[in-house]
Amino acid sequence: MQPIDVLKEASRQVYENVKSLAGTKAAGSDHGIGAGGDISRKIDIVAEKTVLDYLKKTGFECTVLGEECGRVELSEKPKGFVIMDAIDGSANAVRGMPFFCCSLAFATKNRLRSVSAGVVTDLSSGDMYWATKGKGAYCNQKKIHVHKEKPVYKIVGVNISGAKPKLMRRLQPIFENSNHSRHLGANALEVAFFARGLMDVYIDLREKIRVTDMAAGYIIAREAGGIILDQNLKPLDSDLSYETRLSFIAAANNEILKEMSSQLKMKPYR
Ligand code: IPD
Ligand code: CA
Repeated sequence: MQPIDVLKEASRQVYENVKSLAGTKAAGSDHGIGAGGDISRKIDIVAEKTVLDYLKKTGFECTVLGEECGRVELSEKPKGFVIMDAIDGSANAVRGMPFFCCSLAFATKNRLRSVSAGVVTDLSSGDMYWATKGKGAYCNQKKIHVHKEKPVYKIVGVNISGAKPKLMRRLQPIFENSNHSRHLGANALEVAFFARGLMDVYIDLREKIRVTDMAAGYIIAREAGGIILDQNLKPLDSDLSYETRLSFIAAANNEILKEMSSQLKMKPYR
């Protein structure tokens, strides 16, 4: 089985196992602090266990890097890493806000740029966004692309959750100009929406997001033709460790990238 098929099936099983749990009181029960440093909720644990059980059952030889479970070695000869955020958008999932997803990626090396397959499943609708390196990005069976034409409404996704006053001041032009700003609460799904052409840009400059939340969205957005750069306007890359935190801008084309980076006073690092 190819890594993409393993990720798709694991993610489909997560959808089946959590769809009736989201929004219930049980979904939010406290299961202690996860490897990523946040409180693990029951829905996070159920989703991660689904993926781990499936990977074990199929004998997929890998090292898992999970937001709650941390590093789990499933083989002595791993073919690579499964980077798992079994529930991205846990707060939405617990409250029953229909915007949360399962994000799974496969990387051959300990680097974001070595991600070769990714799946983001919208756990409210069951829509599956997926991509493999060099073969394009899809939503279910349909090929997807970032929005290349001039949009009727320019939609700018921007993550402001927990943003400090200094960052909010820097982001102010994004809210003032002729942009329609959006913040939906699940980074991986927001990046998948960007890849599908529903947003023109997605910005997260909080220096907070983990690789687990980003890895699948990263390959889906790139395969859909998006540009993903770090805060210094360099191609986004990092190691896969939990401690690593990222800032990034994903843009549908160079024109909008130039416009946004100048509004945000982002300068190339030399
Ligand atoms: C969170 C979501 C959210 C972002 C947080 C992440 P989680 O992921 O991606 O959009 O603002 O920084 O932690 O914790 O629900 O997996
Ligand atoms: Ca999570």
